[in-house]
Amino acid sequence: RRILLVNGPNLNLLGTREPEVYGTDTLAEVESLAARVAAEFSLEVRAVQSNHEGELIDAIHAAREDCAAIIINPGAFTHTSIAIRDAISGVELPTAEVHISNVHAREEFRQHSYLSGVAACVIVGCGVQGYEFAVRRIAALLGASPA
Ligand code: DQA
Repeated sequence: RRILLVNGPNLNLLGTREPEVYGTDTLAEVESLAARVAAEFSLEVRAVQSNHEGELIDAIHAAREDCAAIIINPGAFTHTSIAIRDAISGVELPTAEVHISNVHAREEFRQHSYLSGVAACVIVGCGVQGYEFAVRRIAALLGASPA
């Protein structure tokens, strides 16, 4: 079985973008971390990153065909996108929402997530380790046991 890992706008810059907020690991490192942890449960990861809202929505829709769950960091679309929320609701796959930074300790406009109300869990402020926690939580929700 497969997990769709979705990273939204600006997360392609991970490692160099505001490292004091987001750390120094690159997106490629995050994606391989997720794949490594998923493999512990015999799960695969399909990693997608886009700066375009519609592409993220298309990837979420496509997951309905061949994925059992979704892990998503929608970046700033977290705080703006009803369309991404509706896509997650529409595909009815268990979804973990991840934020690298503690959005609650930051600007007011980062405190609201359109996604959280339809997410199975929300992991905030754990750095890139949050992606690992998300994989482990999704594995538990899927009843996947360690390989
Ligand atoms: C983020 C938090 C968002 O507010 C921000 O726009 C991002 C990254 C995080 O991972 O902490 O792009 O989702």
